[in-house]
Amino acid sequence: MHRTHSPRGLFDPYYVPEQILFRDREMDTIQRLYRDSYEDEYGVNCLVHGIAGVGRTVFSRYFLTKIVPREFDAHTVYVDAKYKDVLEIVSELADKIRSVTNQPITVAFDLDVLWMQFKRAATHAPKRTVFVIDNIDEANEDIYLKLARLSKEINASTIGVLNSHDYRLLTRAPQMQMSCDFEVPLDTYTQSQLYAIVRQRVEDTFPLGLPEDVVRYITDLVCEFDASRPKTSIEALKALWPMASSGQEIDSDTVRAATSRITSAFLDQDYFETVQTVGLNNFTTLLVLEALTEHLIHYKNETYVDRRLLEDLVEVKCEELGVRSMTREEIENSIQSLIFQSIVFESGYSKDLLYVIAPPEVLCDAARSMRRELARRK
Ligand SMILES: Nc1ncnc2c1ncn2[C@@H]1O[C@H](COP(=O)(O)OP(=O)(O)O)[C@@H](O)[C@H]1O
Ligand SMILES: [Mg+2]
Repeated sequence: MHRTHSPRGLFDPYYVPEQILFRDREMDTIQRLYRDSYEDEYGVNCLVHGIAGVGRTVFSRYFLTKIVPREFDAHTVYVDAKYKDVLEIVSELADKIRSVTNQPITVAFDLDVLWMQFKRAATHAPKRTVFVIDNIDEANEDIYLKLARLSKEINASTIGVLNSHDYRLLTRAPQMQMSCDFEVPLDTYTQSQLYAIVRQRVEDTFPLGLPEDVVRYITDLVCEFDASRPKTSIEALKALWPMASSGQEIDSDTVRAATSRITSAFLDQDYFETVQTVGLNNFTTLLVLEALTEHLIHYKNETYVDRRLLEDLVEVKCEELGVRSMTREEIENSIQSLIFQSIVFESGYSKDLLYVIAPPEVLCDAARSMRRELARRK
């Protein structure tokens, strides 16, 4: 398939990719609901919910902009309610329905008048309409409610989009139960699904691509530290885009900087102290950490250290220091204790790939000085 690269896919919050991934089941469900309602000429109201950043907007917009025009002969109206007051929402609804139905524009500044105008325009629309209200919350739920009720009268359909917490609050109210015929919950993705989503977006937006390990590293970090939200991955890509498109090499430092928002809570810890605690009387663990981080310092565009490579690195390190070499089991125990202390992490892609989130320089310094201290004490 021919691809055109455009940074829109990173910078436009309403961007819809050619393909939406891993939502076939949900897309089928919603399509079936609207097909039944379309054929039997009744209105259907449905709420799409999930955690923020999971892909609710793209799901509803994919349905509205790709499925509806292909499958149904209907008007579509999308309104993002975020940061808008009720008056703004209703006037946007009125403007949009008039514009898709070619009805004359009128002006009003009073909520009731505006709503009446909207209602008239929606009722007289030549085709049936699918409305999407994105980002429903406590401040604007009444408007959604009103729209859902109206849609039943005029055989239109609505999709409300909100976070799962608000969904539970809203559907507790009896009048809300009435205006929600179906829910479409959107689950978070697995590591490999998130990887595919990030990969797809890189292909759509980075003219020169990105190294595989960079995509993997972003995916690992977002899975481990941010509940696998694709939004956070896309934000990281956004930060890398200017550098990558000007031909600069993206190294592991750059990726860490681009994802520091989600790892910062972990990075706040005092690594010197943690490493000291881990390394107390544990020479081998310090040595393993030193070998691992030295490698990452040397090879900035390598993000992971394979367990087998690490064994070799440790062997070299032991020779260098003139100490007896370590057994595989000793090395593995050291890795386990580093993982346990959240100093080292295993890739969700492969358990053999190890990575860090703190600058390797910091970790290496801490390990080295602690190792020297232990040596002095002997
Ligand atoms: N299944 C998916 N396939 C492709 N891209 C996705 C998918 N899910 C989410 N995304 C992308 O992740 C980002 C965040 O999604 P968005 O719909 O804005 O989240 P939400 O509205 O839930 O906060 C967007 O760039 C979106 O295109
Ligand atoms: Mg959204």
